[in-house]
Amino acid sequence: TPLSLIRNFSIIAHIDHGKSTLADRLIELCGALTKREMKSQVLDSMELEQERGITIKAQTVRLTYPAKDGKTYILNLMDTPGHVDFAYEVSRSLAACEGSLLVVDASQGVEAQTLANVYQAIDANHEIVPVLNKVDLPAAEPEKTRAQIEEVIGIPASDPEDAVEISAKTGINIEGVLEALVKRLPPPQGDAAAPLQALLVDSWYDAYLGVIILVRIKEGSLRKGDKIRMMETGATYHVDQLGVFSPKMTPVESLGPGEIGYINAAIKTVADCKVGDTITLDNRPAPAPLPGFKPSVPVVWCGLFPIDADDFEKLRESLGKLQLNDASFHFEAETSAALGFGFRCGFLGLLHLEIIQERLSREFNLDLIATAPSVVYRVFKTDGTMELLHNPADMPDTSLIERIEEPWIKASIMVQDEYLGNVLALCSERRGVQLDLTYVGNRAMAVYKLPLNEVVFDFYDKLKSATRGYASFDYQMDDYEESDLVRISILVNHEPVDALSFIAHRSAADMRGRAICARLKDLIPRQLFKIAIQAAIGSKVIARETIGALSKDVTAKCYGGDISRKRKLLEKQKAGKKRMRQFGKVEIPQSAFLAALKMD
Ligand code: GTP
Repeated sequence: TPLSLIRNFSIIAHIDHGKSTLADRLIELCGALTKREMKSQVLDSMELEQERGITIKAQTVRLTYPAKDGKTYILNLMDTPGHVDFAYEVSRSLAACEGSLLVVDASQGVEAQTLANVYQAIDANHEIVPVLNKVDLPAAEPEKTRAQIEEVIGIPASDPEDAVEISAKTGINIEGVLEALVKRLPPPQGDAAAPLQALLVDSWYDAYLGVIILVRIKEGSLRKGDKIRMMETGATYHVDQLGVFSPKMTPVESLGPGEIGYINAAIKTVADCKVGDTITLDNRPAPAPLPGFKPSVPVVWCGLFPIDADDFEKLRESLGKLQLNDASFHFEAETSAALGFGFRCGFLGLLHLEIIQERLSREFNLDLIATAPSVVYRVFKTDGTMELLHNPADMPDTSLIERIEEPWIKASIMVQDEYLGNVLALCSERRGVQLDLTYVGNRAMAVYKLPLNEVVFDFYDKLKSATRGYASFDYQMDDYEESDLVRISILVNHEPVDALSFIAHRSAADMRGRAICARLKDLIPRQLFKIAIQAAIGSKVIARETIGALSKDVTAKCYGGDISRKRKLLEKQKAGKKRMRQFGKVEIPQSAFLAALKMD
């Protein structure tokens, strides 16, 4: 296909504004699938994605469109993950295209996420075609939305020619979208005879074929049987199969510049296929890789422990299986006195964490306990070395620490005026620094710098309840800054309970220490002696609760009564024993940890 007849585009949209529905309509209209083949929403193929209505992994579809100008175009639609956790994957997907459809729900208007994605698309030099969706709804306000797009994003949208009005659901004016794509997006450029430069956009594990790589050819050509080299990792492979998604996998003999397709090459693990890497030919390598590669690094960590210790091996296997398909997910073995054997796991963000946790319980049937999420701190030590710390248990002694830095984010929050006060209060309570406050129509947009550490706890939940669910929130990683951070240890009868220790800013230490002690007081059952529950920074106790001893009367009762009742009691105790953890002479039921850890 000549380059002039190719158009590569992605769809960017806030969650629920109709990206997947529009993609389905485009696929349907281009006849790639019959209605019957179209199970609803082909692009969101993972079960979990469908259920939660979010897009996790980028996918692509090649469409054929006979345009009104009489020519037939190849349209490559690149789906992009819709959540900030996957911002880097979004940027690689955008780098594979020349333009974007910006889908805005005309009944909702521009949202925080729309903005973040649009700015990424503008950075990628995309031509942007605004699409006003859901015009079938009585609440749709296309004129207002047009004005918003112009005002907030700064791209022309007032003319019907500029922004296309559609209903993805009822199928109104889908052709208008296709015409705008071929007329307004620039065709890709590239030289078929140049040394190969192909952008690695995504990779995943297919149960039948093994690792599949999604690529966008920038320069040169790739043929079946070629020996390829990953420029970042240096690994080489023979190309067994090349193809395109139409959307079914369809083998082709070669891929040229401007094309998007897949490679299958007997690669063992997705860890060798780093998103953003450049693929070239081993015998005729490109002089330099494509710009912009950065490895994805986990920013949020937590410990995952099986509730039933016998599930440890099963957990290891399951984590391995998930990692096969998700190079950005990390795990390593960890032991805890309180929780036994488990794994320290690293994620791109909170949603990523939640998704993995949910898949472990749903697909692998594992009952897990997760420790409080932690960010990655930089600990500069007095001996001049620096340590990355993401497990409070590994924090060096304070005498060895010169200073600690923590990661900050830049967050945009959009909210109705009436809830703005709540949002500002929440942000400042979380050590936020206001950078900007503007209005978009009748909604305020607050831009804040916030410590990620304050966001990983319960920021989303608090934000939701402070705004009755109306706020939209988006963030990107900012820089590291020095901070007065301390580790708070929790002691039960003077024995530290590792799984409950956490790192916090000194100003929040007292409050959080008191809260967890109070919680534990309710969770740990009384025993025959008094139990002290303390929160401490180093050797200094900052909060304390005492659980009183069981009174004699209660114990006496246990030993009275008839024999069957006694036996029952003994059996119950035996069963309970298994789930107990010993701290000094205190036994704490595992359910207490579960509950204590759950509440954050
Ligand atoms: P993510 O995959 O999470 O990014 O969501 P999405 O943007 O793909 O949203 P999706 O296509 O799943 O649509 C969200 C909801 O809006 C669904 O319930 C759709 O049926 C509905 N919807 C999409 N387009 C229209 C439309 O044109 N009109 C109306 N009334 N509803 C629509």
